[in-house]
Amino acid sequence: MSALAGRTIVLGVSGGIAAYKAVDVLRRLIDAGAYVVPVMTASAGRFIGATTLSALASEPVMTSMWEGPDPIPHTRLGRRADVIVVAPATARLIGAYANGLATDLLTNTLIATTAPVVLAPAMHTEMWEHPAVVHNIATLMSRGVELVGPGSGRLAGGDSGVGRMAEPADIVARVIDVTTCRSDSPAPSVKRLDGLSVLVTAGGTREPIDPVRVLANRSSGKQGHAIAAEAHARGAAVTLITTVEPDVPSGVAVERVETAEQMADAVFKAASSVDVVVMAAAVADFRPKVAASDKLKKRDGVPEIVLEPTVDILAGVAAARRPGQTIVGFAAETEDVVVNATAKLRHKGLDVIVANDVSAPLVGFGHDTNAVTIIRKDHPASSVARAEKRVIAAHVLDAVVAARQDAPG
Ligand code: CTP
Repeated sequence: MSALAGRTIVLGVSGGIAAYKAVDVLRRLIDAGAYVVPVMTASAGRFIGATTLSALASEPVMTSMWEGPDPIPHTRLGRRADVIVVAPATARLIGAYANGLATDLLTNTLIATTAPVVLAPAMHTEMWEHPAVVHNIATLMSRGVELVGPGSGRLAGGDSGVGRMAEPADIVARVIDVTTCRSDSPAPSVKRLDGLSVLVTAGGTREPIDPVRVLANRSSGKQGHAIAAEAHARGAAVTLITTVEPDVPSGVAVERVETAEQMADAVFKAASSVDVVVMAAAVADFRPKVAASDKLKKRDGVPEIVLEPTVDILAGVAAARRPGQTIVGFAAETEDVVVNATAKLRHKGLDVIVANDVSAPLVGFGHDTNAVTIIRKDHPASSVARAEKRVIAAHVLDAVVAARQDAPG
């Protein structure tokens, strides 16, 4: 395999017990054809020897700003890197990076680079779940930093739980993914959906104020339609309930709706018989209590429009779920994306939530590209860098497949 031929990868190693696995990551990067420059922190040196990394890498390991002939090694490293991967990334490293604290060669390099960065966190569960770490991770993800893991399993000192560093093969796969995704190459490997029925909703609902005016939102329906098309391509029987003109393959069964109420009726009717429900639609949370039957005229003054809540379709579907059904929701956020989306996943009882920071450029509503954070129940968040909506759809459906493996029906 030479998926990384011609690529320079800076491999950062910070000080945790998983540092010994960095050797395996390094070997795999070399096997994939990469030119690997290792950088280790002082505390990493307490877990593994510099000689081990130097012997396997493309050039000797760098450990300090102050050794070697180069007076500014961090900017040079940051510029040379096609990708920087830090494995393991400790709570300290994550905290320093999130807060712009350049305390050693590795953090200086991370802050000096414009290359994509992949972090493989590793720490005890209590540390991973500490609000400061949660906040730092959310900050880094909102800046486009990629995360791989952590997984669940044996930790240092005989403990076990979430916080175990991702497997070296998965870390290297993510580095390859990031390298290729950011240069517009192929979608992730296809996981088929043959034999499954999938219901997808798309578009923004329009709530009538009078016969000519509506309360609407900015959703274009493109992401939902991309999911429907991708699910169809993977062999699923797909039903699409949408508010916009369908531009999906002819094999997809389409139902057009306009209002939240019509969408609720259509979804509740269809949901009970499908294996997967993906609520990508932007459903109005409120609608005018009364829709005027005649056009409101200016001469009658500024109308007072009283709103009432709509039914939460997603929560209703999740509450009535049948065994083995997988429920996916979306969350359009403008701040604290991971924290808010995780709360939504829990209180609506979902298996997967797809969150996007709609305040970021070229992301979400109306655009052809999106960048999302996908959170599976009981799993850490995983970010997908900005890509065509069809590529994002592939990642969403991969998460559906993984969720179904977590909870086989
Ligand atoms: N949704 C739904 N029915 C509604 C509103 C939203 O099914 N009446 C679904 C959307 O399709 C989406 C998810 O719920 O999958 C979004 O959750 P929601 O709580 O509506 O998110 P926000 O509108 O962003 O909520 P908040 O304003 O509280 O952030």
